[in-house]
Amino acid sequence: MTQNIIIRPATPDDLAAINAIFNYYVAHSTCVWRTQPCSDAERKTWYQEHGPSMPVFVAEQGGRVVGWASLGSFRDAYTAAGMLEDSIYVHHDFHRQRIGSQLLQALIEAARHLGLRSLLANISADQTPSLRLHEKFGFQKVAHLRDAGQKFHQRFDAIYLQLLLAV
Ligand SMILES: CC(C)(COP(=O)(O)OP(=O)(O)OC[C@H]1O[C@@H](n2cnc3c(N)ncnc32)[C@H](O)[C@@H]1OP(=O)(O)O)[C@@H](O)C(=O)NCCC(=O)NCCS
Repeated sequence: MTQNIIIRPATPDDLAAINAIFNYYVAHSTCVWRTQPCSDAERKTWYQEHGPSMPVFVAEQGGRVVGWASLGSFRDAYTAAGMLEDSIYVHHDFHRQRIGSQLLQALIEAARHLGLRSLLANISADQTPSLRLHEKFGFQKVAHLRDAGQKFHQRFDAIYLQLLLAV
């Protein structure tokens, strides 16, 4: 039987697990276009730059961190106007267990609580799981950038989806 998932704010003790989940995708997936792993120092700085106005959540199952999600600044002017970008990464062995859904739900609730006006998702066009997940929660496609990224000797479009919270 699948154990219950707990969604909670991340603490500094979670950063190694957060980085392990993320760096798997850096090495193996086009869901993130960067090719260099995120170092422990970089992740620590990232965490310190977040905080109450840009929360980081983890999904825990049986005491193990199996996913994480965050709100972050996409562009300073957008942040000032009440728009943040979401990020969600579920451990590759734990897909399709509603963990991504619970993390995205937590982000949307936090965004509403913070009084944000919208959320932005910036997704590589080949990433059907992420596109479908966001659409399921009401995000709508607002932009399609051609030839915007590259990885593993392939080139990719970028799709932007937005969830309006203030309407
Ligand atoms: C995208 C991701 C977070 C989804 O997490 P998950 O826990 O597997 O997703 P869930 O089980 O909550 O699924 C929710 C919905 O997402 C969609 N979805 C998830 N995986 C899918 C897949 N392989 N194919 C198509 N749709 C998929 C479906 O609409 C699904 O709803 P359904 O099961 O009722 O059809 C996960 O695949 C992941 O971590 N991928 C790599 C990192 C990534 O792409 N992150 C997004 C960058 S912001």
